[in-house]
Amino acid sequence: MDAIISDPPYGVAHKASGFKDETNFAMYNVDDQRDFGNARTNEEFLDRMRQLAREAFRVLKSGRYFVLMVGDRFQNGEYVPLGVNLANALRREGFELKGIKIWWNRATQRPLKPYALMRSFVPNITHQNIVILKRANMKS
Ligand SMILES: C[S@@+](CC[C@H](N)C(=O)[O-])C[C@H]1O[C@@H](n2cnc3c(N)ncnc32)[C@H](O)[C@@H]1O
Repeated sequence: MDAIISDPPYGVAHKASGFKDETNFAMYNVDDQRDFGNARTNEEFLDRMRQLAREAFRVLKSGRYFVLMVGDRFQNGEYVPLGVNLANALRREGFELKGIKIWWNRATQRPLKPYALMRSFVPNITHQNIVILKRANMKS
């Protein structure tokens, strides 16, 4: 292959969040265990993505690009930098990280204000990441 562009689930259990236009954030098949969004933990999700990366490494020509769109998350009271975590997981499968572009599209357009719950900071995630990886010649 000359390039692979993927828009995988954004981690686990990514249910509709209430923003009615946010349709591209909530597509996963609740009953289908093959859906990566049904992994039980973020670690399992990253393991599944590494499996995908091994397959991508096999079919992609050397020096060609593997590009993924993925949003960060806020889970169990903590910010999960999923784009960075995913990039690091896939670097272990023979890909070099060339860049992470911030994608601010129509679905993510919200005021850039911090949310607060009592005195707790809650991030208002207004972007997705475009993770740009290049297939190395060899796995190190
Ligand atoms: C963020 S959504 C991308 C939606 C897509 N860009 C679109 O506009 O229709 C993630 C998609 O990955 C699919 N998916 C999850 N696990 C998969 C797997 N193992 N094989 C194929 N597709 C999978 C889900 O069904 C979901 O549609």
